[in-house]
Amino acid sequence: MNLLIYNIKGLVQAENHARQVVAGADMAKLPVIPDAWLLIKDEKIASFGPMHTLPPIEDIKKIDATGRFVFPSYVDPHTHLVFAGSREHEFEMRIQGATYEEIAAEGGGILHSADKLAQTSEDVLYESAQKRLLEVMKSGTGAIEIKSGYGLSVEAELKMLRVISVLKDISPIPIKSTFLGAHAVPAIYKNNRSGYIHEIINTMLPAIAEEGLADYIDVFCDRGFYTTDETDLILKAGIKYGLKPRIHANELDFSGGIQVGIANKALSVDHLEFTGKEEIEALLQSNTMPTLLPSTAFFLKLAYPPARAMIEAGLPIALASDYNPGSSPSGNMNFVLSLACLYLKMTPEEAINAATINAAHSLELNDSLGSISPGKTANLFITQPMNSYAFLPYSFGTNRIETILLNGEIWED
Ligand code: NIG
Ligand code: FE
Repeated sequence: MNLLIYNIKGLVQAENHARQVVAGADMAKLPVIPDAWLLIKDEKIASFGPMHTLPPIEDIKKIDATGRFVFPSYVDPHTHLVFAGSREHEFEMRIQGATYEEIAAEGGGILHSADKLAQTSEDVLYESAQKRLLEVMKSGTGAIEIKSGYGLSVEAELKMLRVISVLKDISPIPIKSTFLGAHAVPAIYKNNRSGYIHEIINTMLPAIAEEGLADYIDVFCDRGFYTTDETDLILKAGIKYGLKPRIHANELDFSGGIQVGIANKALSVDHLEFTGKEEIEALLQSNTMPTLLPSTAFFLKLAYPPARAMIEAGLPIALASDYNPGSSPSGNMNFVLSLACLYLKMTPEEAINAATINAAHSLELNDSLGSISPGKTANLFITQPMNSYAFLPYSFGTNRIETILLNGEIWED
């Protein structure tokens, strides 16, 4: 289908030669064309420009976007969107003073979600995950990563990854899947950690590779979860099966997770609440994308990662929702942007770059998504009328998106 959007108040992240990744001071630069038009042809961005350059175009569908901004869809590079049940009882326990780590150490947390998932059929799991996918798409997400990690057994990890695989088949937006067998140590292996790691490496990975069920491999490398040596072993085994690493690191401590991720050429290291000079130095020497998940720091009341120091040192940053039942029961990227502005002290321009170009780069989707550039897939959204694009992160908690286009077509669920 061909479509013209015209009278756009601001065409955000529009550039003819798309940047691959945006780092340091460049993160503050956001290309926006005021009073613009955008032509979409056959699912792709064809051309755009200021209104005074609009060529005569007849006989195609047209949208008048007077007063509205057009954004490229968000790319959410870190979620656990497939899960069973919810954990508001832990939310209540935390209100009474318990910490996330204490709840996990007593067999709650991830292990609670694993118990629930074991009792849930693939069909039921699929239905709930599909609803969550629609929910995040409505809030502007146009590509997403989804992890396993609530299975923690061969059968249940495969069940999760098969659900993700079906979502990939039916979804109008690109999905990347990540194997996170090393999310926690399951209760039956409590006194035999190496036995579980052996199972991940020698049983889960071959089975996943045989069915082609994962794109990436992840490990929760942190205090109380997996050590750096264990992480290194698991990542190297995954790499042998062609799975590039993207890992959970430094959420709960200076765990060495950032360094072990970099040593294994991780596409991204995620969380990073505990990041100091050494970690920033190591990241600067790498191509690994530092990915921040402010909804998690917000929900668990953790100290936020030092985003300003990272940007000032010259690093890029990507943003993700971490949608999961324990530490971020929201996949709303608009809210992530608001938190990034408020608590990571990122400007709206930096936050938008982090949630589009840099997030697409970390998911290896930069050729097709992350900016409004000729030849890229037309996944984008049109806002409600507003004075400036900063109104989006400013008006937190309210969905300001009016129209969503996926693959060049207006999308309504
Ligand atoms: O990214 N940190 C590890 N994993 C998830 C939380 C998972 C859970 O609590 O269910 C996260 O925060
Ligand atoms: Fe996570």
